[in-house]
Amino acid sequence: MIEAKHIRKLYGSLEVLKDINLEVAAGEIISIVGASGAGKTTLLQILGTLDSANSGELWINGTDVLKLKNNKLAHFRNKHIGFVFQFHQLLPEFTALENVCIPAYIAGLSRKEAELRAKEQLEFLGLLERAEHKPSELSGGEQQRVAVARALMNRPSVVLADEPSGNLDSENAKDLHNLFFHLREHYNQTFVIVTHNQELANMADRKLVIKDGMIE
Ligand SMILES: Nc1ncnc2c1ncn2[C@@H]1O[C@H](COP(=O)(O)OP(=O)(O)OP(=O)(O)O)[C@@H](O)[C@H]1O
Ligand SMILES: [Mg+2]
Repeated sequence: MIEAKHIRKLYGSLEVLKDINLEVAAGEIISIVGASGAGKTTLLQILGTLDSANSGELWINGTDVLKLKNNKLAHFRNKHIGFVFQFHQLLPEFTALENVCIPAYIAGLSRKEAELRAKEQLEFLGLLERAEHKPSELSGGEQQRVAVARALMNRPSVVLADEPSGNLDSENAKDLHNLFFHLREHYNQTFVIVTHNQELANMADRKLVIKDGMIE
């Protein structure tokens, strides 16, 4: 599902990623760990096409994404990549349902189609009764599950998560971790998860350690 070859990234003279090579199969759950500042977020942003590498290759679901520009890249990202962040990044003035619908609206679905799919998604995540709540009216765990529903909305090739449980208590963190594996079972969903949570890191099919700009 993902093939990254010889990814190199510099910020000025700081070489954050030296030579990253990574393959992720469909339905795999990969964790990425490493010290603060090791380049985990940088790598995830590059895999998510939000940032670009100085050199290297990146294929996602058979597409050479570095050849895509502007609108085509934005369209590809909307369709193929779901993001979950440490802080849910839900839009505060919209309800859970509206937040989950947004990626589908961007993809061109009608309001009816988007709401139908969003409700299915929320129901699967046990959140249907919370559909009309705004983020501030949801618990931390619920907010993060809404963010997961939003990430899944366009049935992406891969979900990229950066410290998804970093802001949750241990019980909510555990629920969220189990949810990822549940989604893999049901949808064969592929995940790449950056985490400082050792338990989650060790649950993954593979744990990759970034050190000195390389995968150890
Ligand atoms: N936009 C930027 N400009 C310059 N330097 C940056 C930029 N973004 C990140 N860096 C630097 O690149 C290095 C890697 O940052 P990154 O955010 O990828 O680390 P991380 O592994 O995600 O760390 P953490 O676990 O603390 O989130 C750090 O030294 C950081 O200061
Ligand atoms: Mg980070």
